[in-house]
Amino acid sequence: MRHVQSASLLTALFSATQVAAHGHVTNIVVNGVYYQGFDINSFPYMGEKFPTVAAWTTPNTGNGPLAPSQYSSPDIICHQNATVGKGYVEVNAGDRVSIQWTAWPDSHHGPVLDYLARCEPNCASVDKTSLEFFKIDGVGLLDGAKAPGNWGDDELIKNKNSWLVEIPKSIAPGFYVLRHELIALHSAGNEGGAQNYPSCFTLKVKGGGSDKPAGVVGTKLYTPTGDGIVFNIYQSMSSYPLPGPPMYSGAATGVPQATSAVTSTGTALALDGAATAASAPSGFSTVASASATPAASSSAAASR
Ligand SMILES: *[C@@H]1O[C@H](CO)[C@@H](O)[C@H](O)[C@H]1NC(C)=O
Repeated sequence: MRHVQSASLLTALFSATQVAAHGHVTNIVVNGVYYQGFDINSFPYMGEKFPTVAAWTTPNTGNGPLAPSQYSSPDIICHQNATVGKGYVEVNAGDRVSIQWTAWPDSHHGPVLDYLARCEPNCASVDKTSLEFFKIDGVGLLDGAKAPGNWGDDELIKNKNSWLVEIPKSIAPGFYVLRHELIALHSAGNEGGAQNYPSCFTLKVKGGGSDKPAGVVGTKLYTPTGDGIVFNIYQSMSSYPLPGPPMYSGAATGVPQATSAVTSTGTALALDGAATAASAPSGFSTVASASATPAASSSAAASR
């Protein structure tokens, strides 16, 4: 990307981490409905007043990665100092969620990974360090004949910087944290060189099955010397071990990538509402949330 021209000058002024600032998720699309993500360019400057979104909150305004030295820090769970967002988005088990990134640098080859972790009873007051993530998707090396290879995130770039992930049909209904992650391997030949870019959204999964797959807490997903974390991409490669725990047996990993046409804009539903819905007077919370929705938006209808 353009930063390369000025990299040598900037390196003299800033640390390597600050220079290597490369992307974030802007939004998701579920069945044609666009849901805004956590806007790092404005939300961090709005105090508590930023919109209700399903994306988790992070002060990572620099677009930066996490390093292997942070794998045992809670930051690895949903990025730097992340806290649960105020909202959630409803999806049906079996739906495919499109996750939109800012332009991803094509030097940053590596895998695309997706996990879910169940929140009980919902995610409003979840302790993120206790969330147990199970892997539902992982696309690593697609063709390693010619270095640096063709990778999951190269497919993402080809797919207009977006990624389609299927929510497994077999999981039990309820609230989940979707943890979507790119791991850039361009410097991973040396220990400590991998770059992790995790991003989380709170989902309410409807329908589905009864599976409650076992998972792994975020701080135990990876180790700095683990498989697929220390890996040299500048050579001919026959295979690549996906980092992290094994794939959930019910996962529909690696669905054909496609973009999702946006037919309307939705607003995340309030997690607070989910926590109190059971005791709210019948119909009351529905009326309140509908009247708070701009008339031009189809969010109220679309998000039900
Ligand atoms: C993250 O949290 C730590 C501990 O509370 C704090 O010292 C640090 O300033 C925070 N970082 C940002 C970027 O907000």
